[in-house]
Amino acid sequence: TPGKLLVRGSVNIDEFFVVDHIVRSGETISSTDYSRRAGGKGANQAVAAAKAGAQVDFAGLVGNDGGWLRDTLGGYGVGVSLLGADETLPTGRAVIQLSSSTADNSIVLLPGANFSQTSRFRHLTSAQLATYSHLLLQNEIPLNETKDALRRAKSAGLTTLFNPSPMPSQQALAEFAWQHLDWLVINEGEGADLLAALADPAAAEQANEGPAALLRALRRTALGSLTGIIMTRGAEGVVASLRDGSVVEVGPGKVVGGVKDTTGAGDCFTGYFATLLSTLPRSPAYSLTHDKLRDILAIASQAAAICVESQGAMESVPTLAAVKERTGEGWKEGME
Ligand code: RIB
Ligand code: NA
Repeated sequence: TPGKLLVRGSVNIDEFFVVDHIVRSGETISSTDYSRRAGGKGANQAVAAAKAGAQVDFAGLVGNDGGWLRDTLGGYGVGVSLLGADETLPTGRAVIQLSSSTADNSIVLLPGANFSQTSRFRHLTSAQLATYSHLLLQNEIPLNETKDALRRAKSAGLTTLFNPSPMPSQQALAEFAWQHLDWLVINEGEGADLLAALADPAAAEQANEGPAALLRALRRTALGSLTGIIMTRGAEGVVASLRDGSVVEVGPGKVVGGVKDTTGAGDCFTGYFATLLSTLPRSPAYSLTHDKLRDILAIASQAAAICVESQGAMESVPTLAAVKERTGEGWKEGME
């Protein structure tokens, strides 16, 4: 059975515009479809965890126009007792353009209440934190809060996961609290940026020598002590590096009917990954074989592949039952 997850992160109102192409500087174009949806990397990952079968609480903040998000997240089975509201700020907003011709997107982000200083997470005692098994973080809240959350969660005995998206500055990465982190989930571009921030320029050259070389180079930086580094590569699959230096690769999930919208696919993968990881025993040491890791990565990848088949972020995250149905034969009973 999955553990009990805590996501400390962002919740946004996604203003979603379907366009022929992403608008260019100085240009005005018409949108062919508009919708307003619940989003934000933290909330998306919490919903993905809930759909994957986790017991999950979301700690974040809506603003003075986001009361409805509580019902939306609750409706997906996410615990919202740690979701606060800051009436002095607008809810975080993402203006998303989705190209109907290429399925590319571009996003403008307003942090809004995600940067409020009044998070309920701050008041959690160590004993309250210890009721969770895993803490999952992204980078749409102040980085200092993320660092503080990692430190407190680690000392309360939680397994910690961080998806540094959108990417922090090089300076911030160099000064990050890596010693409190167990699992890092990144995409390939983020991996290259991290290497540039953490390695000397000569070592950073290895970012161009393929994903396995990139992971090995990242292991020679401050990330060397992490339990695992998971690197997603879109249609190329996933590559992971474990502390012993070994590298595990998994092919991509199967997309049926073409890619419609990749918004939130990374969040779907990360929420699924955290949930599946939490089904494994955490002590005495991580009893994580390559086979188990491969199974987990394959299921999370298949969930993300289904996510890109339809528009929207959290709405297009499949349930575990839907992922199972898709994987059919390939499903491992051990993942129940
Ligand atoms: O990762 C997807 C999310 O990024 C969207 O839901 C949007 O809110 C942006 O934060
Ligand atoms: Na989608």
